[in-house]
Amino acid sequence: MKPVAPSALPVRRLGLADLPHCLDLAQDRSWPREERKWRLLLENGEGFGIDAPDGGGLAGTVVLTRYGRTAAAVGMMLVASRHGGRGLGRRLLEHVLAEAGDATLFLCATEYGRPLYEKLGFETVGVIEARVGHFDAGDDPYGAGPGRDASRLAEPGRDLAALCALDIEVFGADRSRLLTRLFAFAEQVRVVERDGEITGYGAAWRSAGRLFVGPVVAEDDETARALITDLARDADTRIRIDLDHRRRELVSWIAGRGVPQSSTTSFMVHGGRALPGDRSRLVASFMSALG
Ligand SMILES: CC(C)(COP(=O)(O)OP(=O)(O)OC[C@H]1O[C@@H](n2cnc3c(N)ncnc32)[C@H](O)[C@@H]1OP(=O)(O)O)[C@@H](O)C(=O)NCCC(=O)NCCS
Repeated sequence: MKPVAPSALPVRRLGLADLPHCLDLAQDRSWPREERKWRLLLENGEGFGIDAPDGGGLAGTVVLTRYGRTAAAVGMMLVASRHGGRGLGRRLLEHVLAEAGDATLFLCATEYGRPLYEKLGFETVGVIEARVGHFDAGDDPYGAGPGRDASRLAEPGRDLAALCALDIEVFGADRSRLLTRLFAFAEQVRVVERDGEITGYGAAWRSAGRLFVGPVVAEDDETARALITDLARDADTRIRIDLDHRRRELVSWIAGRGVPQSSTTSFMVHGGRALPGDRSRLVASFMSALG
């Protein structure tokens, strides 16, 4: 029988029943098996996959997360190593490009993914540093210091609406569906207030034996440091935080707190379009797949 051309292989919507195959595919590419993360992505966004033509699971995946109609993130782009280099990645990416319509599409690209994204019209507009290490809060009493805006635990009933209002100003697109889930997904969500108004928030969540700190939104570096310190100070494991490499002060501060650079990714936007919002207050991504 003649093999089917990659461009003709059907792309289908993934559901939670596909989770075990997504984890196998991740493992095949030496990515950790992050079940909670995949579950969040598949429940909140739209997962697409190509079934392995030789049977036995998935040959490729991608997840599209829409933020209203304005913007959308592409993540979890994976093609099994035995099916690599045959056009499956292109097929999946073309599919999400068509699905996304007019939304501004963005993603964080590894060195493996970048050539494919460039071919399909994505442009690098920034660099994200993933930093991983044992956070040392030292004797710096952020959050508790006199005259400093202390962070406090957020409560969904009390804070969700204000947190979403701040986020849409900063992110420029509606993340409220995701932020509503954040309270159940994260170990902690914290906010900083000034004169009764929320001026920053951050979350910490666990995956693959690490505590991820993100998203973090803050009006200035001091507020960001307060939030990060309070989220990470009691971590019993390594933390990971993804920061824009242009935030040099924050980057050198976190390095001094025992969290060195682990890897970098290219932040890419389709067609190089400008992203909405006030990204100067967007300190840390939620995760690579979500921006
Ligand atoms: C990145 C990945 C998804 C690509 O999937 P793939 O099915 O092998 O890619 P394709 O065969 O569809 O390649 C598409 C195009 O990109 C090009 N391309 C892909 N990888 C390339 C590379 N490393 N260097 C140069 N060009 C490359 C191909 O030549 C092809 O060009 P063409 O369509 O004009 O012929 C796959 O390698 C993978 O899963 N890697 C590990 C996980 C990862 O890093 N994912 C990306 C996360 S951002």
